[in-house]
Amino acid sequence: MAAMSERAPAKINLTLDVLGRRPDGFHDLRTLMQSVSLCDKLTLTRREQPGLGLTSNLRFLPTDRRNLVHAAAAAFFARSGLTPPGLHLSLEKHIPVGSGMGGGSADAAAALRLLNRFFQAGLSHGDLEALAAQVGSDVPFCVRGGTQLAEGRGERLRPVPPLPACHIVLCKPPFSLSTATVFSRVATTRFTWRPDHDGALRALQEGDLRALSQRLFNVLESLIPHGQREIADIRSVLLDAGALGALMSGSGPTVYGLFSDPDAAHAVHEVLRAQYPETFLVRPLTALPDDGAP
Ligand code: C5P
Repeated sequence: MAAMSERAPAKINLTLDVLGRRPDGFHDLRTLMQSVSLCDKLTLTRREQPGLGLTSNLRFLPTDRRNLVHAAAAAFFARSGLTPPGLHLSLEKHIPVGSGMGGGSADAAAALRLLNRFFQAGLSHGDLEALAAQVGSDVPFCVRGGTQLAEGRGERLRPVPPLPACHIVLCKPPFSLSTATVFSRVATTRFTWRPDHDGALRALQEGDLRALSQRLFNVLESLIPHGQREIADIRSVLLDAGALGALMSGSGPTVYGLFSDPDAAHAVHEVLRAQYPETFLVRPLTALPDDGAP
């Protein structure tokens, strides 16, 4: 059978609130999540050798059991009852690693969708999302995509109206953060300010990009001990260039700005990219790309 591919879009968090610590050690969240057009690409082929092989164009990326793609494949074969034949997955990374844009989760979700399609296993979206929740907190969102309000660990999803059309500049400072490390600081923190979810949801209802941009808020931003200055600097550059709002995504450190003016977005993309190579100009995705990916 010919190779089959699936794109794995990154996400940004438009809001992120931590409501409390759970008995299982995770945190209850409320967060508005949005898929964007920066994508990894996963390609599946058969191979002679039994088992699942994974390779990536990024040499430092673990492709052994630490990679969530393996956990996704294991969950898929356990649920579908299929015996895994010899398979090879090739992962083309574009989403920066450890960036707060959910790259590893996106890859795992793409693996679930791809295996379901390849084997015509007929698992429903709901089935795939349930498997995704076993793999990681952001993976169910990445299976579904678009614009969603996520609660619980991040796995309880409710569709909300899409982010109005806009231009998004993503800029990752030259350091990476571990989600677990950032969350470990929540215990010792009292958040004074929290996102206005009602206001943000109303802005989405009304398709009001400006009002939504004024409500971007992420409580995790105050928990980044090193690199606060760099995050603040990037945000200032974005806002000075005409961003309607700017925020750190997820557990960071990527900062993004939302623009209605394409020229302003292009210009600041060039400026920031000269200093930070991992800078991207992207669009929101209202739905996942319909693969056969190019
Ligand atoms: O679910 P995932 O493996 O992506 O989470 C990575 C880490 O982030 C967890 O081990 C946990 O420390 C933290 N986390 C959390 N609460 C969440 C999601 C993640 O504490 N809702």
